[in-house]
Amino acid sequence: MKVIIRNSSKEASVWTAHLIADRIKAKAAVSDKPFVIGLCTGSTPIETYAELIRMVKAGELSFKNVISFNMDEYVGLPVEHPESYHSFMHKYLFDQIDEKPENIHILDGNAKDIEAECAAYEKAIVEAGGFDLFLGGVGEDGHIAFNEPFSSLESRTRVITLTQDTREVNARFFDGDFNKVPKQALTVGVATVLSSKEVVILAFGSKKARAIRDAVEGPMSHYCTLSGLQAHPNGVVVCDEAAIGELKVNSYRYFKAVEEAENL
Ligand code: GLP
Repeated sequence: MKVIIRNSSKEASVWTAHLIADRIKAKAAVSDKPFVIGLCTGSTPIETYAELIRMVKAGELSFKNVISFNMDEYVGLPVEHPESYHSFMHKYLFDQIDEKPENIHILDGNAKDIEAECAAYEKAIVEAGGFDLFLGGVGEDGHIAFNEPFSSLESRTRVITLTQDTREVNARFFDGDFNKVPKQALTVGVATVLSSKEVVILAFGSKKARAIRDAVEGPMSHYCTLSGLQAHPNGVVVCDEAAIGELKVNSYRYFKAVEEAENL
């Protein structure tokens, strides 16, 4: 695992957007196959999406041969609800780039047959060729996508019951009313994320510092599902200074030395 540390969330986001753009262009240079990307929601990726949008508008990048799969969606929330992850993605990314509508995949939290929906999602990912890159965030408790504590690190796409903590944290998007936050979500599994050739996780702010410490320095554990990234050959966590506030000084120094030596 690598940890990239930047002074601000803005710098970290620009770094990440350029990494994504470089990967899309590198594949296009050698293959006609689409670039398959996993995408996340939340406040954290917004600046990365803004930089990707800027590049598309400037003619520096195209999503015409990109297929995306979002990581999660609330169960029972109408698609047109402003806080559905469908609405979020269209507002902050899809409506402003040139990705083809048929290449956009988001789990249907209103599907009549939830199990069939989850199985079809896993199948569609395989049929698309598997993930080249998965972009994710992290919850304050270390969850990746909506893989709450005690999710199997071998988990695949399924329905999950949200913890009280997650619902309280996400109440800020629902008029501060915990009761308005759906109780369940559909989420890709930890193993679904880790099936990607490359996984890039964003973490900004001191509220994420404990999750980052547990995921980076703690044992691999279902209690902090981001820790599953330790077993991935190509995992990167991109942080601002606040998010690495709980790391040991020696860990911090090592990650900085890697950045310098490898010119990251
Ligand atoms: C939710 C999402 C996660 C996201 C997390 C952090 O739990 N399901 O995918 O990483 O929120 O959100 P934020 O970026 O707003 O801190």
